[in-house]
Amino acid sequence: MYKLWIFLHLFGVVVWVGGMFFVLHCLRPALADLQPALRPPLMVGVLERFFRYVTASIVLIWVSGAGLAAGIGRQAMQHGVLTMIVLAVVMTAVFGWIRLGQFPRVRQALAVSDLPGAAALLERLRRLVLLNMVLGILAIAAVTIWR
Ligand code: HEM
Repeated sequence: MYKLWIFLHLFGVVVWVGGMFFVLHCLRPALADLQPALRPPLMVGVLERFFRYVTASIVLIWVSGAGLAAGIGRQAMQHGVLTMIVLAVVMTAVFGWIRLGQFPRVRQALAVSDLPGAAALLERLRRLVLLNMVLGILAIAAVTIWR
């Protein structure tokens, strides 16, 4: 069972952390080549889809993480694993804030054709995604390098 849990766990991590890396470092810089008016609608369309996969990944990561933790047992858990779980709690809360608090405001701004407003909100959202990507990388480091 451990092998299946670790596979599902890593699959969820790849989608979430890898997806954030792609959005921040590949997609967003490439949008600079588009006319400013086209950027927020495209970004919202991309994020709308990405966030659905992130929600599914978070469920997968928590369920598989719980399965792994149950297999290891509380006593055998090293500090690296505990650090990973604490970081995952923060990441999940930040994502909840992005998805339920910030993203609907970007959609609202777009709905009334407030492009500068949507762009400013997307910039704030970018910083939150950057924060989560760094926390995700630290979580991977905690459970691999620091254990
Ligand atoms: C986004 C957040 C998370 C990331 C990036 C992450 C990353 C990882 C990685 C890369 C491993 C493989 C370590 C290895 O086999 O060398 C792992 C294992 C593990 N994860 Fe997570 N994880 C996250 C969230 C969670 C959560 C929420 C839980 C608990 C509910 C959890 C529990 C575990 C356990 C118990 C292991 C097995 C550790 C071991 O075999 O010693 N993880 N995680």
